[in-house]
Order: sequence, then C-alpha cells, then structure tokens
Amino acid sequence: TGGLKDAKVLFVIGGPGSGKGTQCAKIVEKYGFCHLSSGDLLRAEVQSESDRGKRLNEIMEKGELVPLDEVLALLRDAMEKKVSEGVKCFLIDGYPRELEQGERFEKEVAGCTGVLYFEVSDDTMIQRLLERGKTSGRVDDNEETIKKRLETFHNQTKPLIDHYKDKSNIIKAEGTVDEIFTEVQKYMDSKKW
Ligand code: AP5
Repeated sequence: TGGLKDAKVLFVIGGPGSGKGTQCAKIVEKYGFCHLSSGDLLRAEVQSESDRGKRLNEIMEKGELVPLDEVLALLRDAMEKKVSEGVKCFLIDGYPRELEQGERFEKEVAGCTGVLYFEVSDDTMIQRLLERGKTSGRVDDNEETIKKRLETFHNQTKPLIDHYKDKSNIIKAEGTVDEIFTEVQKYMDSKKW
C-alpha cells in the first residue's frame, strides 16, 4: 500500500442530505479528484444481492451505521484500485462518521489532508431528502429513516468536527448549489494539493 500512504485525502462530512454528493460532483469537475462515497460503495454491495449485501441493507434501512470493518475494507479496496491507475487525490464522502473510523483510516489507509464540513439545519436536510425520496428509490429516504439518520449524525458524527477542528473548513450550506460551491472553491484554492 505504498501508493496509498502518499495519497491526498479530503474527508467530506455532513448530515444526511447536506449536499456532500452534489458538491463532490462539482469538485471532481473542476479539480479532478477521485470521488468515493461510502454510501455508494455500500449500495453497490447491496445491489450484488450477496448475503453480506443483505445484512448491510438491513442496517442502512434503519439509518444506523454499518460495522466499521465493512466500510473501511470497501474504501481501501476502491482506493487501492484507483491508486494503481495513477490517482493521487481523493474525496472521501460520508466517511468518517465516528471518531474510531477516522483513527482506523489514518492508521491503516492514508493520512487526512483536509476536511470539508457542510453545515445545514435539520429542517433543510429533511426537506431535501423527502423531495429526493420521490424519485431516488433509496430505502432510507422516508420520514422515519430520515429521522433516525439525523439522530445517528448528531450523536455519532458531529463530535468529529471538534476532533478535526485544525483541519476543518466549515461551510454553511443552506444556499444554492452554486453559492455553496463558491465557498468550496475558496477552500480548494487556498490549499496546495
Ligand atoms: P450516505 O449514502 O452517505 O447518505 P447520507 O450521509 O445520508 O447522505 P446523502 O447521500 O443522502 O446526502 P448528501 O449529503 O450526499 O446530499 P446530496 O448531495 O445527495 O449513507 C447512507 C447509509 O449508508 C448511512 O445511513 C449508513 O447506514 C451507511 N453508511 C454510509 N457511510 C457509512 C460509514 N462511513 N460508516 C457506517 N455506515 C455508513 O443532496 C441531497 C438532495 O438535496 C439531492 O436531491 C440534491 O439534489 C439536493 N440538494 C443538494 N444541494 C442542494 C442545495 N444547495 N439546494 C437545494 N437542494 C440541494
């Protein structure tokens, strides 16, 4: 994993529906990073209809965190593949979601270069996800699971912001996609990748 240790890693953290995926797509377009979303990797595993996928789906349906080892292995495999193709800079979206995930990643995969945190009110997140739920087909975009996802976020993920405060850039993400991306660009341009 020599290549992995040299990778530049930007953790993208925020509550459910805070706009992580939307902003990552724009960062990829402008800065050419490789975007890996832990949720997307998990959903791909669910699609495969393996026993493992079925177990993961049950947890995601409840809006709880899947076991750390599962998500860490999926991320590490995906990153190793990309590094072997010459990728150096990664956006890791939706991970870490609890302190231990960050610690294990930094010990076993790669260091953390920076953190982007999207701060959005619960009301806005709920509205966005209910709207998306009409067409997304995601098993977790319903009122009950959204409530649980928010709870998981507040209890387990939010403490990370304090932990990473020296590396974090906190972006108020209530505005339009373009307004938020203007702030994101300021951060991206201020760092030497
Ligand atoms: P994951 O897939 O990561 O879901 P999430 O964190 O709930 O976030 P979303 O992907 O739903 O939203 P987003 O922030 O990317 O927002 P988006 O840009 O799509 O995780 C799902 C589940 O997998 C978890 O609950 C857990 O079970 C498991 N899991 C994942 N990672 C894990 C980990 N590390 N450890 C353990 N378990 C893990 O935007 C949302 C909507 O709003 C879209 O419709 C978008 O078009 C719209 N929108 C975006 N920005 C704006 C804007 N500025 N104005 C108006 N609308 C906007």
